[in-house]
Amino acid sequence: MTSTLVTGIAELTTCRSDVDDHVGPDRLGLLTDAAVVVEDGVITWVGAGREAPDCDAVVDVGGRAVVPGFVDSHSHLVFAGDRSAEFAARMTGAAYDGGGIATTVSATAAAGDDELRALLAKRLAELRSQGTTTIEVKGGYGLTVEAEARLLRLALEVTPETTFLGAHVVPPAYATDRAAYLDLVTGPMLDACAPLARWADVFCEPNSAHAFDGEESRAVLEACAAAGLLLRVHGNQLGPGPGAQLAVELGAASVDHCTFLSDDDVEALAGAAGTTSATLLPGVEFSTRMPWVDARRLLDAGLDVALASDCNPGTCNTTSMPFVIALAVREMGMTPAEALYAATAGGAKALRRDDIGRVEVGRAADLTVLDAPSYLHLAYRPGVPIARAFDL
Ligand code: NIG
Ligand code: FE
Repeated sequence: MTSTLVTGIAELTTCRSDVDDHVGPDRLGLLTDAAVVVEDGVITWVGAGREAPDCDAVVDVGGRAVVPGFVDSHSHLVFAGDRSAEFAARMTGAAYDGGGIATTVSATAAAGDDELRALLAKRLAELRSQGTTTIEVKGGYGLTVEAEARLLRLALEVTPETTFLGAHVVPPAYATDRAAYLDLVTGPMLDACAPLARWADVFCEPNSAHAFDGEESRAVLEACAAAGLLLRVHGNQLGPGPGAQLAVELGAASVDHCTFLSDDDVEALAGAAGTTSATLLPGVEFSTRMPWVDARRLLDAGLDVALASDCNPGTCNTTSMPFVIALAVREMGMTPAEALYAATAGGAKALRRDDIGRVEVGRAADLTVLDAPSYLHLAYRPGVPIARAFDL
């Protein structure tokens, strides 16, 4: 077995798991002048550079900062087509209502497997070059049995974190018979997709003509859980709704968006800390001109908070977690430390993964190096490409 010493780390963010400090400055478990030993893709030693053991190979990062690779727990990465005109219309006042998803469904249906593979590979290269080492990928732009299974097969080629999202929107052909679409999603579509997915998700939004109300969402999620899938929910994005409390009630790993949470929702999520995270997607607020989430309110109430990109062609077409971190700090009231934690250990928790998101012995050697002396530069230097995933 070959051992590699990564040294010259001016500041190492460990997100060490033995610090039980929900929002305080110790949360990141920072080490200065640190080193890490990696063997077979696993971290086997973490400590002060001057105490590092001898290794077969040495990589000196030259006084840069190292952080855990970003864990992007929410994306819709398999799609074709472009909705930049829809974005431009929103910037002059148009509202987002999910109706544009049909455009992406058509464009995706028209693309062959190799075209989708190439698009996916380009997006993966983009996100790795910005420090992301784990990505969750949803279907949801197929909406037929064959098309949803195809998207998940392609997603599974690049990540184990695949999510069945047949209940993304009701296809226009089913607009007058929603029950028939729900039967399809919870019947043959689920049968075809369950072997290809770890997770199931639903777009729960009671006041959208396109998405699913509380009872419809419950039916989908319960059927998916019975098929062995773990649950996550798109909830409370476009307005107040039952998504967050449904996620808590059904033991989902996360409710994502959380743009409109009532005090009762916050209380329910606080009571579910450890089981159900609140995943915030500030790039969506940015690209849809929706109100910023008050992350301070959620953190102070004791919620488990994660940050993710939601990369998709409609509400947020970015692969950049540093951009997401910068927005969360500037616009959502998170400290730089809280935002980095939410983008690493927080994302891992939202994916129920204990092998990633922290730099500790026994965990995966998913490291991201910053061309900067401190993690603070992630938010301090917005738009500057300082983060990249380390190839070890
Ligand atoms: O997370 N809200 C639902 N789904 C995506 C957007 C999908 C689209 O508009 O293409 C989201 O925002
Ligand atoms: Fe999404």
